[in-house]
Amino acid sequence: MYAIVAVSKNWGIGKDNALLFSIPEDMKYFREKTAGKTIIMGRNTLESFPNGAPLKNRRNIVISTHENYTVEGVEVVHSPAQAVEFTSDIPSEEVFVIGGSEVYRAMLPFCEKVFVTKVLKAAEADRYFPDLDSMPDWKLVSEGEIKEHEGLRYCFCVYERV
Ligand SMILES: NC(=O)c1ccc[n+]([C@@H]2O[C@H](COP(=O)([O-])OP(=O)(O)OC[C@H]3O[C@@H](n4cnc5c(N)ncnc54)[C@H](OP(=O)(O)O)[C@@H]3O)[C@@H](O)[C@H]2O)c1
Repeated sequence: MYAIVAVSKNWGIGKDNALLFSIPEDMKYFREKTAGKTIIMGRNTLESFPNGAPLKNRRNIVISTHENYTVEGVEVVHSPAQAVEFTSDIPSEEVFVIGGSEVYRAMLPFCEKVFVTKVLKAAEADRYFPDLDSMPDWKLVSEGEIKEHEGLRYCFCVYERV
């Protein structure tokens, strides 16, 4: 499976259960990468969406410890292992871990590729993605051109497991 994330310069991903940045082209990139695919997320991330509703045109799998947790249009699983089991019959490139921090950490060992939108600015955050540059089993394989939105510079990067 793959992961997709937008990070600040210091690998921050969120604050107060919201994203740090809103970059339309990054939203579009996310939509294009995940459209028609299976996405895996934590309960907090689901609840950070408008009305706590699942994302359209995708199979939404949500991890929660709560046994009785149900949301329309969502498949609830109760552990990272169960998320892996639920997606074991799907090609790797059709399953995306989409956050948040807790779920990225739990699912990273199962991921072979991470699409990282790097925003070239430090930001105050309370949730982080593991720093892939400091992890010997991850390698930056592609670094896109630097783009800009309202003064925020960012680029689309890809890391692969070595
Ligand atoms: N920048 C980005 O690309 C990006 C993407 C997604 C999210 N985010 C941000 O990340 C933040 C949310 O991240 P988060 O770490 O607070 O929450 P999260 O990972 O979205 O969800 C955490 C919840 O998932 C469940 N969970 C996680 N690990 C589990 C495990 N091993 N077993 C069973 N259940 C497990 C638990 O739900 P229960 O409490 O129900 O048991 C846990 O409370 C927000 O600020 C959001 O905006 C950023």
